[in-house]
Amino acid sequence: METAEIRRRWLSFFESRGHTVVPSAPLPFDDPNLLFVAAGMVPFVPYFVGQETPKWSRATSVQKCVRTPDLDEVGRTSRHGTFFQMNGNFSFGDYFKEGAISYAWELLTTTQQEGGYGLDPERLWATVYEDDDEAVDLWLKLSDIPRERIVRRGKQDNYWHMGIPGPAGPSSEIFVDRGAKYGREGGPAVDEDRYMEVWNLVFMQDQLSAVRAKDDFDVAGPLPARNVDTGMGLERMASILQGVDNLYEIDEVFPVLDKAAELAGKTYGANPSHVAAQSRPDDVRLRVVADHVRTCLMLIGDGVTPSNEGRGYVLRRMLRRAVRSMVLLGVDEPTMPHLLPISMERMSQSYPELRTDFARISQVAYAEEEAFRRTLASGTTILDSAVGRIKAKPQAPQRLSGEQAFTLHDTYGFPIDLTLEMAAEQGVEVDEPGFRRLMAEQRDRAKADARAKKTAHGDTHVYRHVADSLGHDVEFTGYDEVVSEGRVAGIIRDGQNVEIASAGDDIELVLDRTPFYPEGGGQLADGGLIELANGAVIDVRDVQKPITGLIVHRASVVCGEVGPGELAYAKVDIERRRSISRAHTATHMVHKAIREAVGETATQAGSENAPGRFRFDFNAQHAVPGAVLADVEAKVNALLLDDLPVHAEIMSQQQAHDIGAMALFGEKYGNEVRVVSVGDWARELCGGTHAQRSGQLGVVKLLGESSIGSGVRRVEALVGSDAYSFLAREAAIVGQLAELVKARPQELPERIAGILGRLKDAEKEIAAVRQAQVLGAAAGLVGSARDLDGVTFVSHDAGRDVTADDLRALVLDVRHRLGNDRPVLVSMAAVSKGRPVAIVATNERAREVGLKAGAFVRTAAQQLGGGGGGKDDIAQGGGTEPTKVSEALGAVEDQLRARSA
Ligand code: ALA
Repeated sequence: METAEIRRRWLSFFESRGHTVVPSAPLPFDDPNLLFVAAGMVPFVPYFVGQETPKWSRATSVQKCVRTPDLDEVGRTSRHGTFFQMNGNFSFGDYFKEGAISYAWELLTTTQQEGGYGLDPERLWATVYEDDDEAVDLWLKLSDIPRERIVRRGKQDNYWHMGIPGPAGPSSEIFVDRGAKYGREGGPAVDEDRYMEVWNLVFMQDQLSAVRAKDDFDVAGPLPARNVDTGMGLERMASILQGVDNLYEIDEVFPVLDKAAELAGKTYGANPSHVAAQSRPDDVRLRVVADHVRTCLMLIGDGVTPSNEGRGYVLRRMLRRAVRSMVLLGVDEPTMPHLLPISMERMSQSYPELRTDFARISQVAYAEEEAFRRTLASGTTILDSAVGRIKAKPQAPQRLSGEQAFTLHDTYGFPIDLTLEMAAEQGVEVDEPGFRRLMAEQRDRAKADARAKKTAHGDTHVYRHVADSLGHDVEFTGYDEVVSEGRVAGIIRDGQNVEIASAGDDIELVLDRTPFYPEGGGQLADGGLIELANGAVIDVRDVQKPITGLIVHRASVVCGEVGPGELAYAKVDIERRRSISRAHTATHMVHKAIREAVGETATQAGSENAPGRFRFDFNAQHAVPGAVLADVEAKVNALLLDDLPVHAEIMSQQQAHDIGAMALFGEKYGNEVRVVSVGDWARELCGGTHAQRSGQLGVVKLLGESSIGSGVRRVEALVGSDAYSFLAREAAIVGQLAELVKARPQELPERIAGILGRLKDAEKEIAAVRQAQVLGAAAGLVGSARDLDGVTFVSHDAGRDVTADDLRALVLDVRHRLGNDRPVLVSMAAVSKGRPVAIVATNERAREVGLKAGAFVRTAAQQLGGGGGGKDDIAQGGGTEPTKVSEALGAVEDQLRARSA
């Protein structure tokens, strides 16, 4: 059965049993504790813990998940995949253990003809939490599984939590026996390869306050209701229903593996799979490629772009591992263009947006592969030369040091396995233990760093504390109001929850409702004042949303005391808000106009909306020509004049999609989304604040476009009065220039070009006159020639502002005029652009008697504090001391005299 079909059956089974089908949330999740969604229940946490009222009592989803802690295990076992889909059914205070178990049994064992998965009941096992007699009884009552195949296990295996404080509960897992060829008999406790876990039913009933390990945690108390959270690994089920050994061989993954093997000219599975992974490195590499290519596709699809930190780094690492695995398999050509489209073909059955968005996705992936291949190429050069040096000393140990391998890895991003392989090819060893030691040291440093950061910033429990005591989300009133009444719901000072704060304190203040917009969606936070009924005044500098549902004002207490429950009047700085809102609306308009001009692949990659200005980053491989930008600017400004109404509407994701609203990748949207439209032209999913009509923006002025990294461009712009001031300033400068050059503004370019042309001509003329003057001295200098013991000698200081070329020409002219009847030596010096230069020339007769220009110039240059040289007939030198010109000339003369003495 195809994976897409398993997915369809799942959703329709639960839909027909009263569950609302909820679309998968995007992989990046807006929780500081999670990089990516790693379980189907993640988007529903607020319902389980009672933070939000569930919209439905039953839901089902197939959630995209990424887990990356076991990156090194990928390909080695049959179970580790980085991307997977989790089929889930959820009850929020509706059915509990009985419902969960009976649905699971029904779906697994109903025949395929009747819409189920048709598993043989004889192959199924169940585990339950050690003291969960109720679950044992229910399995006995509702299924055909006999008591011997119901196994009790402890917290390590049968209690599920998220690894962080949150909802949790005992679980019951369902295993499929894959048969004797996969391992020993005896059930899941004996062999989890043979008995594969396919479905985890979690009876969500506890709220955890601390989690130290899988089996070491503190239960704070019961959840408000008894819930069900289940997860069936779609890939695992596919491997069972497709009768394949592992998840790399299922229909959604294998075609990529197959293509990679073809490109590399390898046969996958030439060794049977029970052979240890290290003895079949090629198979492992092919699996890594297949797994990682798919994960990269899904991550980029959800808006992640490669970078050096956080989510982007995970993506970069996986993409590079895939490319590097292909290199190790012997493929030197770019491989993403072969593999990514195949992955897209398979995955777009369930995720059609991958196809419509493929131009953008592939651009990002291909550019990253290209960049990495360049890294590999430069690393190879460095490695080759290091190896060359080692081999040049055959007596020394033929070994690359740990430091060298580490530098290659750390500075050039050159992976160690390539270093090992390529060094080995050339008969050189690598000090691998040394390399590993340096890696471990670096890891320790990074960990210490992360710990330091966590206590400083990442710790969210103080926020959770406020959220829990508030019991509901902070109400954001700022779409409709800029002044709201609320009550103090929490105060945090120096990272601690406190009861009171007073004048001079820097605090984080939570109100139960607030009009202050927290930074997010590219929009900067509001500023303003909060005044308490007791007279205290608080100056708000920043507003953030550290955890879902909580808005925190970072502020200082100007006067008075702040205590819990106080009545507060929160007053947003209206000017700042308006100005930011105008920028935000302008960003939407420019985004739309750029996409119209450049193409749909120019999707937003980030933005910042600040008072009076914004920057907008978008995906594009090439610079946007100035003329296109000018069109974009003109189009946007024309639409400002149309004074289009800007309105926000809440609708379902489907409706938003149907009316063509642009969604920002990487943002989490609930089932209900807010769509902001400028007229019916620019429509975008957005939680920000906006102008009411496009006319309020006044003017939008683009300041230019630049590259900010591979495949991402940035436009910066001014809006409203800032744009006006900018234009007015430019106009004033134009006015001044026009005045200066006595021209009308529109004549300026021509006039200035004319002036510059004339200036150039004048400079040329001056140079010519000066040269004529210098050269004009020649006749006089011939007259000044002296006889020094049979040598005709001319010595001349040509002064300042003489170029070396002119001096040279003069020297040659004088030598020429003096003829070749007698030995001639001409010595001149000058200062050219502040630096002294000396030139000496000899004629043929002089050289016959051993007078060499080079030797004389060296003497002169020594005096000038420099050096020089040249041929025997003419030589030039210079130095750093322009005041020593006459000494230099004197030294030449002395040398000549000394010769005849
Ligand atoms: N939340 C449970 C899991 O991830 C179902 O296994």
